[in-house]
Amino acid sequence: MRKIYLAGNWKMNKTFQEADDFLYELGEYLEEKTLRNVEAIICPPFPYLELVTDMAEELPLSCGAQNVSEYKSGAYTGEISAEMLSSMEVEYCITGHSERRNIFGESNSVVNAKIKQLQEHFIIPILCIGEKLEERDAGKTDEVVLSQLQGSLKDIKIDGNLFIAYEPVWAIGTGKTATPQQAQEVHKLIREWLRENYGEDVAADIPILYGGSVKPGNLKELLREADIDGGLIGGASLEIEGYIKMLEIAGNLK
Ligand code: 13P
Repeated sequence: MRKIYLAGNWKMNKTFQEADDFLYELGEYLEEKTLRNVEAIICPPFPYLELVTDMAEELPLSCGAQNVSEYKSGAYTGEISAEMLSSMEVEYCITGHSERRNIFGESNSVVNAKIKQLQEHFIIPILCIGEKLEERDAGKTDEVVLSQLQGSLKDIKIDGNLFIAYEPVWAIGTGKTATPQQAQEVHKLIREWLRENYGEDVAADIPILYGGSVKPGNLKELLREADIDGGLIGGASLEIEGYIKMLEIAGNLK
């Protein structure tokens, strides 16, 4: 049975106390319950990473960062390096999120440099790609997604050390989810691109997550699609009840 990944991207939310409370409850749940084919990944803001990595030592939980510097080390005030993340046992890092691309102006070449930094330190990048509404309406979804893949993965070797997240920008935080069919179409396109560029084995191995208004009410239908291996979940991962419900749904999937 294939593995399902449920990555909660908290974005810039929660006080320290709120993060601690959420993780305490998640810890209680994970201690009691055996999740067989599901991996829970929490991507908190930087200051709370250690809360998650500490828990990950004892429990079936993984920790992801939301961002990393494109630079190695040195005079880059306010930046966090891949080496720092690795020294804290962070396993994953989101790169190329549409909020980083659109609000902070990250280009494919910056995303590419970040992925290289992460790979040097054995952190698995979760590469986000996805089209805006006007691009979808203009029939440019495939073109946009493929050019983000090409640009972000330029000269990058993949050896079981990369996740991709398809996040259509129009579905992020809007309550509008892509239909399972719409998501599957793009996931299939991504898988085909990986096959052409990296071969059959790599293409089959890379988890492709869907992100954009995933919630307990639509998760099951999305996960039923052949090329959807999990979710990158924003808003609905902030409430412990909802996140646990999604772990249950994924765990009970036949
Ligand atoms: P929402 O689940 O809030 O739409 O956010 C999706 C996302 O951007 C996850 O990275």
